[in-house]
Amino acid sequence: MPNTWIVGASTGIGAALAFGLAGAGHSVAVSARSVDRLESLARESPIPGAIIPVPVDVRERASIEAGAAAVFGRMPHLDYCFLNAGKYEHSPGIIDPRAYEEVTRVNYLGVVECLAVVLPHMIHEGSGQVLITASLAGYRGLPKAGAYGPTKAALISLAETLAADLRSTGVRVRVINPGFVRTPLTAKNRFPMPFLMDADEAARRIVRALPRRSFEIAFPWPMVMAMKLLRILPNRLYLALMGKMGR
Ligand SMILES: NC(=O)c1ccc[n+]([C@@H]2O[C@H](COP(=O)([O-])OP(=O)(O)OC[C@H]3O[C@@H](n4cnc5c(N)ncnc54)[C@H](OP(=O)(O)O)[C@@H]3O)[C@@H](O)[C@H]2O)c1
Repeated sequence: MPNTWIVGASTGIGAALAFGLAGAGHSVAVSARSVDRLESLARESPIPGAIIPVPVDVRERASIEAGAAAVFGRMPHLDYCFLNAGKYEHSPGIIDPRAYEEVTRVNYLGVVECLAVVLPHMIHEGSGQVLITASLAGYRGLPKAGAYGPTKAALISLAETLAADLRSTGVRVRVINPGFVRTPLTAKNRFPMPFLMDADEAARRIVRALPRRSFEIAFPWPMVMAMKLLRILPNRLYLALMGKMGR
């Protein structure tokens, strides 16, 4: 039975993934701050006992270390670790450094802190996969995404670096780049979200991609293709287009 730890699993994509993987026979430790939600996930697990709540706040190193100790105590061999915790701030106009700081602490530094405890363990074991949830929003700078987008771009870059650095260790680092998914994170968006999909569908796509050799898990494909095209668009054209979209 594969052992899996999902950080950022109380709602949305992480919670759907926990159900999907538990149903597929994984033993799944689920982490986030909301203890109640983690406990209700465990109660509703498709296989009784397959979901184990481990509260963690990724902004606190001591909390991550305590969470990791609890996970490694139950699962000395970890097959998959999903670093999925995230928050979104709409950032129009003037920069609010405190908002940027908070988003960066959760989305980027939270992942870095988790990697600092998970990677040495996996490297020692000589196996395991770490899957970092970034976003298609990390491909290029998008309007009103000043706090969020750069954290996702940084995660994609970090995942590429680690995948290269750890090539000979037996540990794989991969990146998950979803398009728009219906979750509490997108519920407050007041702009059109093309190809919006349910969290269960997003989780199914991630579970299906797990055995593949690909570095990146990205979906849905029309959104991926559109974003990949935007990535190669010359700056002048791209910025003119984004300027219009932003208005
Ligand atoms: N929804 C989308 O369209 C979309 C698209 C691309 C990428 N993503 C990424 O997918 C990931 C999951 O997002 P989602 O859409 O499923 O949103 P969500 O339902 O809001 O899930 C976010 C998860 O992160 C956890 N989290 C937030 N702050 C935390 C902290 N300080 N410590 C520990 N856990 C924390 C939340 O739990 P607690 O609040 O209980 O701590 C929750 O479990 C995020 O990284 C997001 O950026 C989402």
